[in-house]
Amino acid sequence: MDTYEIRTFGCQMNKHDSERIAGLLASMGLTEAGEDQTADVVVFNTCCVREKADERLYGQVASLKAAKTAGLDTLIAVGGCIGQRDGAKLLRQLPHIDVVFGTHNIARLPQLLTAAAEQRDAVVEVLEAGEGDFTSDLPTLREHPWHAWVPIAVGCDNFCTYCIVPYVRGRERSRTFEDVVAEVGRLVADGVVEVTLLGQNVNSYGRDLYGQPRFAELLRAVAATGIGRIRFTTSHPKDLSDETIAAMAETPQVCRHLHLPAQSGSDRILKLMNRHYTAGSYLALVDRLYTAMPDLALTTDLIVGFPGEQEDDFAGTMQLVEAARYDQAFTFIYSPREGTPAATMADQVPHDVIQERFDRLVAAIQSSALAKNLPLVDTMQRVLVEGASKRDPRMLLGRTGGNKVVHAPCPPELRPSGLAGRFVDVEVQEAQTWFLLGSLRG
Ligand code: SAH
Ligand code: SF4
Ligand code: F3S
Repeated sequence: MDTYEIRTFGCQMNKHDSERIAGLLASMGLTEAGEDQTADVVVFNTCCVREKADERLYGQVASLKAAKTAGLDTLIAVGGCIGQRDGAKLLRQLPHIDVVFGTHNIARLPQLLTAAAEQRDAVVEVLEAGEGDFTSDLPTLREHPWHAWVPIAVGCDNFCTYCIVPYVRGRERSRTFEDVVAEVGRLVADGVVEVTLLGQNVNSYGRDLYGQPRFAELLRAVAATGIGRIRFTTSHPKDLSDETIAAMAETPQVCRHLHLPAQSGSDRILKLMNRHYTAGSYLALVDRLYTAMPDLALTTDLIVGFPGEQEDDFAGTMQLVEAARYDQAFTFIYSPREGTPAATMADQVPHDVIQERFDRLVAAIQSSALAKNLPLVDTMQRVLVEGASKRDPRMLLGRTGGNKVVHAPCPPELRPSGLAGRFVDVEVQEAQTWFLLGSLRG
């Protein structure tokens, strides 16, 4: 075993876990395989939130099988949420897998790989959620040296009726306040300028440990470490407090961006989804947010075609989209997940009906995104540079606090990659639906 490759699917929590996996493999002496090399170890960090994510694993493992039958000794490890959900069952459908692990035992991957290599037989280890969940004391190989994911809680207690996450990630468990703040402090010392605090529902952070949420307080404490920028995801609307809105508004390090999944704009569907808010209370919350932060970038998740969704329910979603003035939205076609209550609800919506609604929703989101970007023309934006633009290597690419992609020509004496991880001021000259164009100032 000399080289590895990690293929990551799913949410930011998985991206973070993959950085931990990379750190563990590096500490075993492995290096990342080159692009046209077949790695000795291929790790799939999987997601099962929608059916499409499931299917991708099957396709990709099948194509790796060819390498195995060609005599290459590639070890295939499958972890993440499909590993957690299916365990040994995976081997029945994908017998070429060597290691199956779950979301609670990432730290064990080196031992599992070694065992699989020695016994030439598949090794399966999937644990129930419990002790030893936090991977924060594991080595990490960050994708960008200047950015870090920081999990503040894992798992979820909300049981939205369509969602499999609580079943594969377990109940919500928060990290201690001191632990989170100390980790960010170490990251700052290590050159990190932006952190993204992660949890399925960051707004309830601390409730399990302290009897009440401490997210607002955590934002202020993390800002005091000297970090340049703080992002966080995800916020459940039912738990977003006025105290958190105030902490966001008053803390300059906290980005003026909130991802606030609405899922639907129909009260009837929201109830069936077990979301604990109405379209009206969601929009009242949005009003409070824009009042406190008029320049806030607001993004969301929306599901089309939840069981029983009628045309007037969908009309509610379209109205909500118009009223909330989103900067961006992730739109999903409802995907039944076995074991969740919604999968067996009556009135599953036919695919062609969903597709037609989905197309209308995507068009509405596009015009909303452009409408939010146009007023940014002629403003100055503080941009964190990520590197060179893929379209033109002389242009730099970065993001505003509102998480908008910005392209700007790089000064001729500098290279965009040399500016990665640095803050620059950009004057915006042009706004498109999904990006801004500007030039460097100062
Ligand atoms: N904890 C986060 C996000 C979890 S999954 C939250 O509550 O916002 C990310 C998104 O996937 C969800 O917001 C939802 O819009 C979508 N999603 C989850 N399960 C789904 C399903 N079965 N079908 C379609 N979309 C789904
Ligand atoms: Fe899933 Fe709902 Fe939990 Fe988000 S809050 S992870 S959508 S159950
Ligand atoms: Fe997917 Fe698991 Fe995240 S199911 S969305 S990778 S928590």
